[in-house]
Amino acid sequence: MANEREKQAAARRSLAFVRDGYVVGLGSGSTASYAIRYIGERVREGLKIRGIPTSARSRDLALSAAIPLTTLEENPLVDVTIDGADEIDPALNLIKGGGGALLREKIIASASRVVVIIADSTKQVQILGRSPLPVEIVPFAGALLAARIAALGASVQLRRDGAGKPFVTDEGHHILDSNFGQIADPAQLAGKLDRMPGVAEHGLFLNMAHVVLVGRGKEVLELNSVRRDPPGPEQAAVTAKDP
Ligand code: A5P
Repeated sequence: MANEREKQAAARRSLAFVRDGYVVGLGSGSTASYAIRYIGERVREGLKIRGIPTSARSRDLALSAAIPLTTLEENPLVDVTIDGADEIDPALNLIKGGGGALLREKIIASASRVVVIIADSTKQVQILGRSPLPVEIVPFAGALLAARIAALGASVQLRRDGAGKPFVTDEGHHILDSNFGQIADPAQLAGKLDRMPGVAEHGLFLNMAHVVLVGRGKEVLELNSVRRDPPGPEQAAVTAKDP
């Protein structure tokens, strides 16, 4: 069962990655919400940052915490993003999207110089796939994509909201929770999903996390990735403007 104290400890530790003047990607989910609240406390003490929320819910939380907000249009390069995860494997590959915000989360992570993932210890797995993989889809293609994803070996369920209606994401899409069991080759599966027209995004975040902070008992483990590619040419152009 998820551990709130571990989530809080990891969220507190992530503040060390937030500096004055930064544009900060604000993640979604319960662990990221702690970080947003703690950042709000620092802002009230004088920290000067601007946040870009990864979901409508995080935007509302950031506004209530009086965190100044900006947009990807105004700031296409994000200094650091702090976000949660549903699963983290030893290579720091992730499954995300339990809260349904994976599309904006992945866009903002891809625009970030540093991606810091915060989690309690229940999120660490040896092999991804303990929980269903969320696949965000264009509703028009729902039945077709459910069949195509099932043909890859998953049992597929359309996510529903509390009222039993299809869950609708911030971008107006639906989510197919796709249970593959253990995912032996996440890159291969990601490639197959990326090539399906109508798939808006999927919850495999591969080679995206730079740092993972895991609350474990009274400690916070810091795991660092050495694999992430340097920014591409378009990102580098923006980076060049940095002080
Ligand atoms: C939101 O879409 C997700 O990616 C969350 O970051 C993820 O589900 C982790 O959520 P918790 O921090 O609530 O476990």
